[in-house]
Amino acid sequence: MLNRAVPEPAAPAFAALETPVALVDLPRLERNVARTAEYCRAHGFAWRPHAKTHKILAVAHLQRRAGAVGLTVATAREAEVMAAAGADLLLAHPPFGSARLDRLMALPDEVRLSVALDSAESLRGLAEAARAARRRVGVLVEADLGTRRAGVQSPACAVDVARLAADAPWLDYRGLMFYAGHLRMRPEQQREPIAALSAALAEFRGALEDAGLPAEVVSGGSTATLLRSHEVAGLTEVRTGTDVFHDRTTAALGLCSEDDCAYTVLATVVSTAVPGQAVIDAGSKTLSKEELRAEGRGYGALVGHPGVVLSGLYEEHGILDLSGTDWRPRLGERVRVIPNHVCVSVHLQERVVVVRGEEVVDQWEVGARGRF
Ligand SMILES: Cc1ncc(COP(=O)(O)O)c(C=O)c1O
Repeated sequence: MLNRAVPEPAAPAFAALETPVALVDLPRLERNVARTAEYCRAHGFAWRPHAKTHKILAVAHLQRRAGAVGLTVATAREAEVMAAAGADLLLAHPPFGSARLDRLMALPDEVRLSVALDSAESLRGLAEAARAARRRVGVLVEADLGTRRAGVQSPACAVDVARLAADAPWLDYRGLMFYAGHLRMRPEQQREPIAALSAALAEFRGALEDAGLPAEVVSGGSTATLLRSHEVAGLTEVRTGTDVFHDRTTAALGLCSEDDCAYTVLATVVSTAVPGQAVIDAGSKTLSKEELRAEGRGYGALVGHPGVVLSGLYEEHGILDLSGTDWRPRLGERVRVIPNHVCVSVHLQERVVVVRGEEVVDQWEVGARGRF
């Protein structure tokens, strides 16, 4: 249906699907994409979805058609695959080392590449690679506004890195980038933290402006904070990732309903031998063993069975604790699991089967999977 690197075999009928298999519900996916696109349009934000969640070119095309200005990527592979979905990419990960820089510089000429970074060392490496490749590269200075993961620690540091970027012959200083990963909380709890974030950002923007280096781009945003993005003064661009599929964590935080979760893993009950539990064929190599980043137990939600706890994961075994339900599954019964953290589960799949309810409509390769 849409561009992919490798032709897929014909999609089997739903009943014939071998499990465990990842399913993407197309109407839900399209609804999620439309919702974020509409919010960004209404508030005048450029929307640059993060491809790390889906790693699928067909999904990137869908986001671009809905109005995304380009894509955010975290790895060189994501950049190489997503280059085909739009000529405007932001690498939101410090570009360190020649292996990565060489691959970035080898992206097709028509790609307008920007990179976010937080140190003079990274900046110098990028400047040298861009000069050698005779390629113009945009630079956003990453600021730490509370996540404490990466990002310059003070407005003065941001000015230093921005000045180096502005002075480098093949680099174009563009502005600021931040990721508010520390605000993964329910929207109603975010009012004060967002105000504090906005105030911290104002200090960075003010210092850059005073230094004659105003930030033309201020790139932020996340699934958790999406609907409060307009409360962040000066924000120009929103990078959401998880919202494309949603997951058990975003549902538990009240950021969506379970009916918005577009990605599930179809699994088969393969053992009921141990009393009080059942075993499915989806384990940590399919679902990932990510904790729920909200209140609740277990490694995923069983669609239609809220009383079941997916209490343990071995590599190919998922343990269903049945103590909170009267449901007693038969051997061979199939269930759908919403993973705690969808991005990591997607990364474990070679392909996803695209469905409308229980009708198979396509298969998509997870073309940008892998860690490089
Ligand atoms: C730099 C960056 N931008 C954007 C995102 C998207 O965040 P979310 O998946 O919460 O929407 C992430 C997620 O890890 C990120 O690391």
